[in-house]
Amino acid sequence: MPLVVLTRELPDERLRDLLDEFDVEVRAPAEGELYGEADIVRIAEGADALITVLSDPISRSVIEQIGSVGIIAQFAVGYDNIDTEAAAEHGIIVTNTPDVLTDATADLAMGLMLGVARRLREADAYVRAGRFRRWETTTLLGLGLSGRTLGIFGMGRIGAAVARRALGFGMRIIYHNRQRANLTLERRACAQYVTFDELIEQSDILSLHASLNTASRYLIDRDTLLRMKPGAIIINTARGPIISEADLVEMLSKGHLAGAGLDVFEDEPRVHPGLLEAPNVLLAPHLGSATVEARTEMAAMCARAVAAFLRGEATVANRVV
Ligand code: GLV
Repeated sequence: MPLVVLTRELPDERLRDLLDEFDVEVRAPAEGELYGEADIVRIAEGADALITVLSDPISRSVIEQIGSVGIIAQFAVGYDNIDTEAAAEHGIIVTNTPDVLTDATADLAMGLMLGVARRLREADAYVRAGRFRRWETTTLLGLGLSGRTLGIFGMGRIGAAVARRALGFGMRIIYHNRQRANLTLERRACAQYVTFDELIEQSDILSLHASLNTASRYLIDRDTLLRMKPGAIIINTARGPIISEADLVEMLSKGHLAGAGLDVFEDEPRVHPGLLEAPNVLLAPHLGSATVEARTEMAAMCARAVAAFLRGEATVANRVV
């Protein structure tokens, strides 16, 4: 029987039924550990299919050493941890899980945006510390979203879903993308295409939704942050290394930015200590797709792709390679 190796448990045991024609083994790292390249090569030994997560480094060198593997089904929409060029050269199929996590991720971006704008982390701490003694006119004043400019960097599926939500909050929406979005999308989201510089200079809240690549890595650095409006807020539910965390910490501590909402980090799961200390920074452990619905569908998509490949079906859905 073909062997399917997973680097994490499925979110629901019942999803194993989708793979019941195959041997299935969960070879997850020990609690608190992450796999390095050598670990991936070791656990892929004898596997015909791999189901991987974002922290699994599937480099060219790994690809060259996992000869038995014919498909890598990535349990995520992003796949910057996989050298897809090397996979293509070695005839390994790579799939991802688009669409099913769009709403979940957009919801989280809005949650972080509201949480930072209305200072909910500080508010929660204030109540827990017994400081709520009486109602004051000036306690923890935040930023109203209505009428503010939301800048969306990366107008793909998730960026567009955030734009639709933000419209309901009365925000003006501008965006920048490698390619301008089509007119239908622009009209539906009432979103105006601007240059990257205009995006940075005009946004009251900047929300990142681009994939990580050589162009986006550290795009948000000290110079970019300095050009943002004083008191602006930055939200990142995309990939940590789009922002230079050290530069962000500096701009937060100088008060140039009012706050940040971060679901992703430069060197996950490590979090820059300055972010842990900054008062108006809301942090989440990469929870963009963390709803029961999204995670169930993501797992099912991976299982279906693997099953289609191992059964020799003509089409494997959600191929990126
Ligand atoms: C999560 O970050 C994903 O890419 O699915």
